[in-house]
Amino acid sequence: MAETKLRVGIMTGGGDCPGLNAVIRAVVRRSVLEPHSEVLGIKNGWRGLIEGDLMELNRLSVTGILPRGGTILGTSRVNPKSEAGDVERIRSTWEANGLDAVIVVGGEGTLRAARDMWREHGMRIVGVPKTIDNDLDGTDFPFGFDTAVNTVMDAVDRLHSTAESHHRVMVIEVMGRHSGWIAAYGGIAGGADMILVPEHPFRLSRVCEVLRRRESQGSAFSIIVVAEDARPHAEEDFLDEATRSQIYQHGRLGGIGFQLALQIEKTTRIETRHANLGYVQRGGSPTAFDRVLATRFGVKAFELVLEGAWGRMAALRCNKVISIPLDEAVQKIKYLDEEIYRVAEVFFC
Ligand code: F6P
Repeated sequence: MAETKLRVGIMTGGGDCPGLNAVIRAVVRRSVLEPHSEVLGIKNGWRGLIEGDLMELNRLSVTGILPRGGTILGTSRVNPKSEAGDVERIRSTWEANGLDAVIVVGGEGTLRAARDMWREHGMRIVGVPKTIDNDLDGTDFPFGFDTAVNTVMDAVDRLHSTAESHHRVMVIEVMGRHSGWIAAYGGIAGGADMILVPEHPFRLSRVCEVLRRRESQGSAFSIIVVAEDARPHAEEDFLDEATRSQIYQHGRLGGIGFQLALQIEKTTRIETRHANLGYVQRGGSPTAFDRVLATRFGVKAFELVLEGAWGRMAALRCNKVISIPLDEAVQKIKYLDEEIYRVAEVFFC
């Protein structure tokens, strides 16, 4: 009698980040140890399930991908519930390909959709957390964050030397959506003089006071790291309505660094420049930390499938990879830890 095969799909959804290929490789390599299993790659996140766009993955197809940024499967921000009929289309792709389970690798949006597909439609799904933002609850870290922080640190180091040579203030804008993790870690690692995060609305007067004090003490240059969703305190808001809505209200954040640099130069008369690190933070080869974490998550995810642990997500807690309910992971955003912010603040003087 022919053995029935276990057919497992894997998708990468939402913004890309370093380490996605490491997870794909780990899932495939773990599956090789199960004689009757197959892995199918679902292209471009949820879109691949909606449109029936899948590819076979085997040991050969994942050879050499560990150090590569991005994802060999492609990604998208398609939400499986936004168009009528999508759930039916997903179900028919699922059945046509004989899938037994799907491993969803994603951030908060992708995993929320995964949770809903499992809870509301009974799809057999397990999750893996990825995001450069580190805003996903329930895991000490996702993969992707460490590489992004190292990229920021490297950029801050480089901008330090040019700021110092020109005796300028350099405002460096970083990603992170509504949380200040990248700004805080990247800023602390790069020795920033001020770090502005969404969790603590900033006062321009305080920023300028620190810059002037540094100048009077002989530091003719300063580095400010500002998170893309950091906002001026309501009592000292320098943004007009149109600018504010341009920076924060189009679903795509960006521009506070430029506005802040203008205000600093106007107020202090210290020459000021800005740099927005943008998508550079999402690219490149994953760090050793991210490669190892993504690999551990990939192995765990495949084992969760073997256990039939639907609706659960691989997570890191106290350096152990465990599993937690997807419900817990997407319940709320993980904002910057106050302890980290207090450490950063010690240097704002
Ligand atoms: O969530 C990752 C992230 O890079 C955020 O830091 C940023 O705000 C957003 O994605 C940018 O999204 P998009 O790729 O859709 O422009």
